[in-house]
Amino acid sequence: MTTKRILSGMQPTSQLHLGNYLGALKNWVTLQEEGSECLYCVVDLHAVTVAYDADRLAQATREIAAAYIAAGVDPAKSSIFVQSAVPGHSQLMWLLATMTQMGKLERMTQFKDKAGKDKERAGLGLFAYPVLMAADILIYNATHVPVGDDQKQHLELSRDIAATFNTRYGTEHFIQPDPYIMGAATRVMSLRDGTQKMSKSAESDMSRINLIDDADMIAKKIRKAKTDPASLPETTAGLEGRPEAANLVTIYAALSGQSKDAVLQAFGGKEFSVFKPALVDLAVAHLAPITARMNDLLGDVSEIDNILRRGADKANEMAAPMVDETYKIMGFWR
Ligand code: TYM
Repeated sequence: MTTKRILSGMQPTSQLHLGNYLGALKNWVTLQEEGSECLYCVVDLHAVTVAYDADRLAQATREIAAAYIAAGVDPAKSSIFVQSAVPGHSQLMWLLATMTQMGKLERMTQFKDKAGKDKERAGLGLFAYPVLMAADILIYNATHVPVGDDQKQHLELSRDIAATFNTRYGTEHFIQPDPYIMGAATRVMSLRDGTQKMSKSAESDMSRINLIDDADMIAKKIRKAKTDPASLPETTAGLEGRPEAANLVTIYAALSGQSKDAVLQAFGGKEFSVFKPALVDLAVAHLAPITARMNDLLGDVSEIDNILRRGADKANEMAAPMVDETYKIMGFWR
């Protein structure tokens, strides 16, 4: 049996929310506990492709690392590191950029969303973002990449770039990574609009539950979450056309580790006035220890910095020979 090598990352753009947690981070811990070799990265180079606060970047990076650890990523089992501390990512990105078609990058929905109407003014970094992401993954020959549903298209491009390289140079140098889109909540939706993804960039903070929210804030956000007037259905088929109800049931299922059917067996026929308080209790019980641990860790950043340094040493040990080998295959003087 070949062991899995897992790589994933999150941007230090702002606080992590429940979507990041249920769609990705919670699954990272599951994979670590299964004994896979895991590399978890804070992708700071990706975060500067949009307007950002330079004075906050280093601290935001530590906060994301603290969230990883607080959620259960164990630095003794998994490598936790910062992307910019491993120069190989940017080096490999350049090489891969030479074999990535602009047409493919133009089709990336995240680019279209982030660039907005005025594509001419979007930065090259934003455009090339998926190539850097491919480099993040291919540099470790990761076999599996646990992400939320929104990253599927980027993963397909990473596979495509790996295949292009292998074909062009007649080699098996890069493994084509598989996306790992796991769990009940692969796409957590906004609490204000069940048709929109829960996101860091949404204007209203009431649309998301942040990992740093305290119990009162979580309760307030769930109480005010948009719903419809009907009671909860008995089966998942009854969630059809009810995006807000479907979202809250999905969140409950993911937090409790139950199926949606099981949740509806318990709450089918009940009003939201019954379901919401139960969801508040579940969310608070699940998230409060994570928030507390995060705050604890951030009280002494030297511990986080040491973990990140050790993680970068390990990552560099793996990445540097891979970049070197890539140069050699491409015919560079060495
Ligand atoms: P980022 O920082 O936007 O999001 C981090 C992770 O959270 C998932 N996610 C969600 N999952 C479910 N529901 C949601 N509403 C939701 N919002 C976000 C994302 O799918 C992601 O898994 N491009 C990546 C970062 C990246 C990366 C990589 C990931 C850079 N290099 C290499 C994996 C491997 C991103 O923007 O994630």
